[in-house]
Amino acid sequence: MTALLIRHARILLPDGEFLVGDILIQQGKIVEIAPEITEPDHTTIIDATGLTLLPGVIDPQVHFREPGLEHKEDLFTASCACAKGGVTSFLEMPNTRPLTTTQVPLDQKLQLASQKCLVNYGFFIGATPENLPDLLTTNPVCGIKIFMGSSHGALLVSREAEIEPIFARGDRLIAVHAEDQARIVQRRQEFKGITDPAIHSQIQDETAALNATKLALKLSKKYQRRLHILHLSTGIEAEFLRENKPSWVTAEVTPQHLLLNTEAYEKIGTLAQMNPPLRSPENNQILWKALLDGVIDFIATDHAPHTLEEKGKAYPNSPSGMPGVETSLPLMLTQAMAGKCSVSQVSSWMSTKPAEAYNIPNKGLIKPGYDADLVLVDLDNYRPVLREELQTKCGWSPFEGWSLTGWPVITIVGGNIVYERGKLNTEVRGKALQFGDN
Ligand code: DOR
Repeated sequence: MTALLIRHARILLPDGEFLVGDILIQQGKIVEIAPEITEPDHTTIIDATGLTLLPGVIDPQVHFREPGLEHKEDLFTASCACAKGGVTSFLEMPNTRPLTTTQVPLDQKLQLASQKCLVNYGFFIGATPENLPDLLTTNPVCGIKIFMGSSHGALLVSREAEIEPIFARGDRLIAVHAEDQARIVQRRQEFKGITDPAIHSQIQDETAALNATKLALKLSKKYQRRLHILHLSTGIEAEFLRENKPSWVTAEVTPQHLLLNTEAYEKIGTLAQMNPPLRSPENNQILWKALLDGVIDFIATDHAPHTLEEKGKAYPNSPSGMPGVETSLPLMLTQAMAGKCSVSQVSSWMSTKPAEAYNIPNKGLIKPGYDADLVLVDLDNYRPVLREELQTKCGWSPFEGWSLTGWPVITIVGGNIVYERGKLNTEVRGKALQFGDN
């Protein structure tokens, strides 16, 4: 592996300050950061004048569909999208086929990922009402995923009597998709026959989200169990957490719940349909405030691709979910450049905090000894999200046409350039992530 010297970059340091200077990478690790570094032998030089160097994004909630649903996405196409979007590590969800609910399908996914993934990878184990022993012993996993609602079949664990034993045994991180399934089922009946996709936000309403978040928090407190609340979507949940969140609980929000709202149904129809659903513009504001105040800890995309053909079905037969890994960083950096937050906050939410929350060692900061998972972004120019440039197999984005800055120019995984100015290096392979005490 050759050494890499990045010159004249605006480097984000762990204290949130920037240094214009050089960074030396050897054996996949950051070795030195200084205003000027003398070039060692056999070094590839990158002139990064005018570009900003950030830690690679760690996306802690994605659905990459392999094995079993490769017509929507697979680990190769998804990881190409990651590389283009500056995402150097991801944590992937268990609703693939077979479901990732025991050691054997986890091993299969790890094997596939080692062959196909351009970036680093980690996987959740999915809870079912029956696999408690597997939840305790399957390795390596970043945590246990519980679909309290919005799922079906074996992965749905919606009743308190089924959920409580999972909180009661073991000490692994539990990540919840918090929606109240009983309420959703009842409201589906009430609103039956309506095909306007905007009804989705009313069926799976704010109360459905709040009920499940409250239940998960109650059980987490009872057992002092490490809990992570996935894709928080409502202001009422955020305000509830503001008053009731213990130190061992974290929460995330998606860029789409910050930047899109129910008005999107008029423009993009079922492409705006996801779980938990988009909410009103007022919710966008409250979620932003909670993120800025630290009530919400970090950002995940919930990248959940479906084909345009599938999305073209009339509601409620259209599937929920939207892709996100190749737009998340520019979306958030565009907000930073508009003054909504700072670039270092974006990096903290998208790299440092996910690494801390999931105990991923040596990632999420630009620091000597840390892994060289990095992204050089251009914060001067704006370019639109174009369908024809997307790498995700599903081939669409809810943000098409949005003019964004902060697009990755170069993405580096383990010291290897995996993406540079529109070109992927598909020879690069990421590694399986390690997790501390999860
Ligand atoms: O909208 C969603 N779709 N939300 C989820 O949490 C799951 C996902 C999927 O897998 O399609």
